[in-house]
Amino acid sequence: MRSLNSKNYDTDKSKYMVRVYEELLAPLAGQDIRLLELGIHRGGSMFMWLDYFERGQIAGLDFLPVSLDDPSGRLHLYQGEQQDPRLLDRIRAEVAPDGFDVIIDDASHEADFTRKSFWRLFRNHLKPGGWYFIEDWGTGYWKSWPDGRHYKGSNHLHGMVGFVKELIDECGAGDITFPGLGISPHRLPEIAELRIVPALVAVRKPDAEFASPA
Ligand SMILES: C[S@@+](CC[C@H](N)C(=O)[O-])C[C@H]1O[C@@H](n2cnc3c(N)ncnc32)[C@H](O)[C@@H]1O
Repeated sequence: MRSLNSKNYDTDKSKYMVRVYEELLAPLAGQDIRLLELGIHRGGSMFMWLDYFERGQIAGLDFLPVSLDDPSGRLHLYQGEQQDPRLLDRIRAEVAPDGFDVIIDDASHEADFTRKSFWRLFRNHLKPGGWYFIEDWGTGYWKSWPDGRHYKGSNHLHGMVGFVKELIDECGAGDITFPGLGISPHRLPEIAELRIVPALVAVRKPDAEFASPA
């Protein structure tokens, strides 16, 4: 099986990130998957995914115009904002009518935009059991980032750091609403698994049989 390696591609994805991607996505290699990445830049990661998922359809979205040479015909590029729900719905309809297997957010790294894309895509357009990755959440610790601030203590919730805490709270939804102890009504978490590593968060959607009743 082909291994995932970023060093031959024009992408800033580190070898540590790629190791997590490979660990979680290896079961999908060789399958006819649907992958969406928010944030294309020069297209390095688009080519990395095309090569790794030899049978997959790869979609990319960026608010800047991007043109890439794709002899495979498996690459689908869109121009627009990651926080535009109608555009996200259209990409799913055109590229992944049955839903995406993998979604990656490597676009703004700002909490408001990241949150909007996440909930729209995770709830509506990611398949049950699928993985949603969010890169570079540490921008919330950067004072020069639009919604970041210097770290001043353990209650730091600025920018993307606060969004990661929101995901932790969602993992705790079953206890937040625990019968007799929490706030009713009781419900299951919308997140099956949350893995937080430096510069990357991986969120797995529950399999269909564990999804909360609407
Ligand atoms: C870090 S680069 C993407 C790198 C690429 N994923 C890779 O690994 O090679 C971030 C990209 O996100 C785009 N971007 C930033 N904010 C965005 C937004 N709100 N909506 C869509 N694209 C955005 C930028 O134009 C930039 O090209």
